[in-house]
Amino acid sequence: MERTFAIIKPDAVERKLAGKILDRIESKGFNIVGMKKIKLTKSQAEGFYCVHKERPFFNDLCAFMTRSPVIVLCLEKENAIADWRTLMGATNPANAEPGTIRKDFAINIEENSSHGSDAPETAAFEIPYFFSALELV
Ligand code: RTP
Ligand code: MG
Repeated sequence: MERTFAIIKPDAVERKLAGKILDRIESKGFNIVGMKKIKLTKSQAEGFYCVHKERPFFNDLCAFMTRSPVIVLCLEKENAIADWRTLMGATNPANAEPGTIRKDFAINIEENSSHGSDAPETAAFEIPYFFSALELV
């Protein structure tokens, strides 16, 4: 079993798409081992996305991620990291496969409804960034 970290981003929570996204997560066989709704602070968003701090979209991304609440998740299944990335689809919804979350729900390359860890080392940083061990069940 593998764990990954996921976010239902502000654009999706605002449009009341959380239930539909959680349904897809459970239908694909993920166990939700951690879940909470939080409103990120600027410093929390900047720390989470620190790998992107030199990118031109960094300030916009942090403003987007802090404008309204998100739902943070720890998901578990075999091959969870790759399978969650597949279920989300490409970063830009214009390039995402039919049936993916981003194809069906995302607004644009920034407001793309979901986040997923991209590698085991990333998941190992991201899961404890938001969850204590006691919160993962
Ligand atoms: P994520 O980290 O959120 O799962 O997305 P990702 O791996 O598919 O994409 P990444 O390159 O890590 O980018 C992180 C997030 O930044 C926003 N973004 N905006 N305006 C732009 O060109 C642009 N490019 C990326 C998106 O919200 C993307 O998910
Ligand atoms: Mg990424």
